[in-house]
Amino acid sequence: MPNILDIANVDIYRGLKKVFDDLTLCIPAGQNTAIIGPNGAGKSTLLRTISRDVYPHLGQDGSWKVLGQSNWSVWELRKRLGIVSLDLQQNFNPFTEGAGVVRTGFHASLANFTHQEFTTEQLGIADGLMKELGIYELRDKNYLKMSTGEQRRFLLARALVTDPEALILDEPTNGLDLPAKFQYMQTIDRLIKEDKTVIVVTHHIDEIIPAIEHVVLLKSGSILAAGPKADVLTSENLTQLYDVPVKVDEESGWYRALPFEL
Ligand SMILES: Nc1ncnc2c1ncn2[C@@H]1O[C@H](COP(=O)(O)OP(=O)(O)OP(=O)(O)O)[C@@H](O)[C@H]1O
Ligand SMILES: [Mg+2]
Repeated sequence: MPNILDIANVDIYRGLKKVFDDLTLCIPAGQNTAIIGPNGAGKSTLLRTISRDVYPHLGQDGSWKVLGQSNWSVWELRKRLGIVSLDLQQNFNPFTEGAGVVRTGFHASLANFTHQEFTTEQLGIADGLMKELGIYELRDKNYLKMSTGEQRRFLLARALVTDPEALILDEPTNGLDLPAKFQYMQTIDRLIKEDKTVIVVTHHIDEIIPAIEHVVLLKSGSILAAGPKADVLTSENLTQLYDVPVKVDEESGWYRALPFEL
């Protein structure tokens, strides 16, 4: 299986700002990875280069590959990656009912269009995912009228309809209540067991499920540390990452960050 992500010696700009300078990062298939770091570190920018919303600058020895390929039709690529992000949430057509939101995943579109057709099998897949994520009862509700967490759950179902080989999730639990968060964790755990690769950006280390075994620490556009969770999620590393004293606790593969002084 090709690597999910293979980036070597690339610069990434947002507007005129150079967010990454000479970034090199490889995430092999099956290496489920959490990316953490302070606000503004470049986490969302990195995920946006994977989905081709942002284009990296390749120098002479630079290379950028997702799923083993550097030339992609973005629509094809986005169907093979399940993407959930705040950008997607904000840019989605608000006048779409829940079931329609999920179906747009088949076309990687941000709204339903009349020319789009769906097979009975596709409709069945969409229904099954809505049931699993506990949103089937909300399928007629307009996106505009959904709560933040409801929108997130519909967008997660949307991301899964094409049975993508990798999931690219930017703060996916933002706005989820506790049962919805647990439901999300269960779904992610199931997907990992089905050999999907999950790459997730989060601010909450207590939401990194044990099956996500790798962590990348990003600080100001640089990789401070990357590797197995136990090696990377240490009090020393997080203290250096956030410039405040952090104490890390671990129990049965679950981690939490506590303030040192309290
Ligand atoms: N459209 C833009 N134009 C110019 N600069 C931008 C743009 N979007 C992001 N940036 C800058 O790029 C840097 C990285 O932003 P990014 O959104 O990737 O951070 P992040 O790690 O996802 O932060 P957060 O935890 O707040 O989501 C920041 O300095 C930000 O100000
Ligand atoms: Mg971000």
